[in-house]
Amino acid sequence: MFRVTIDNIEIKVEEGTTILQAARMIGGKVVPPAMCYYTKLRGSGGKCRSCLVKVTRSSGKDPRPMPKLVASCCTPVQDGMVVENNISAEVREARKGVVEFLLVNHPLDCPVCDQAGECDLQDLSFGYGLEETNTREPRREYADVDICPLIKLHMNRCIHCYRCVLAAEQLTGRRAHGMLYRADTMEISTFIQTTIDNDFSGNMIDVCPVGALTDRTFRFKSRVWFLNPVNAHRECSKCCGKVTAWMFGNEIYRITGRKDRFGEVEEFICNECRFEKKDIQDWVTEGPRKIRRQSVISANQYEHLKKGSIIHPIEGTTEPQE
Ligand code: SF4
Ligand code: FES
Repeated sequence: MFRVTIDNIEIKVEEGTTILQAARMIGGKVVPPAMCYYTKLRGSGGKCRSCLVKVTRSSGKDPRPMPKLVASCCTPVQDGMVVENNISAEVREARKGVVEFLLVNHPLDCPVCDQAGECDLQDLSFGYGLEETNTREPRREYADVDICPLIKLHMNRCIHCYRCVLAAEQLTGRRAHGMLYRADTMEISTFIQTTIDNDFSGNMIDVCPVGALTDRTFRFKSRVWFLNPVNAHRECSKCCGKVTAWMFGNEIYRITGRKDRFGEVEEFICNECRFEKKDIQDWVTEGPRKIRRQSVISANQYEHLKKGSIIHPIEGTTEPQE
């Protein structure tokens, strides 16, 4: 076992554990935000830089600090390593820069975006973003691409995290879409306009951290904060059949996978459960699902928020900004 200290809290972890995974084991404010890493997707991480941390001691044997901030999602811990996340002013400053870059081309269309209320970028911007932008340049624009009848792509909201491509590749065994071009012209598209028509394609909606991929059967029907999340299950031959049903009264507005406190799906679900079973009779309801993840939309978040405060994107706690 390796000993690692993150924000002055020591924990013992297995060799090969990344700094982000170790921080998640500790929990609370120690956990860095993650926009591209996804536990269940092999090869995810290393793309968005929102999880940057400072390594002030490389290991017990090598007490030198690492020369630059490192991406915690793809840096394995060393025995005796000391890491600073939230307690480091340098990390907080760098995170502000990352948010600013992620927003350079992202539209500020939260009022009409179905992801509002559960958008990682919205929460990250609320926590670390600037009140004003330094850019005047127009945002990127894309031609509308119809990727399939069930999933709506808004390419201008995409942050190039690559999660959806990995999800398609690893869950369905037949990748039908990927990244085209490079740098700021990069876009998600289906190869030769092939439609994404496999049984698990809907999970791309759940893994997308922003509103770039949304559920066409739910689009513009309601805001997520008006709905009650309920745990429900059914016998399903394709998936675990365990879902969260988002309800208004007795009506099911949408079905999603059950997500943990880090916003990651516990078990992926099939398209039949997600898109076709919207009748309460289709499900055995288990009771209200507690959403542990905090969001900018959470009730009363604004009340104790003073100008310039930092809101922690996972814990929802606030602290004055230096
Ligand atoms: S569409 Fe969503 S999941 Fe796919 S790369 Fe863009 S932001 Fe990531
Ligand atoms: S979560 Fe680590 S780089 Fe994106």
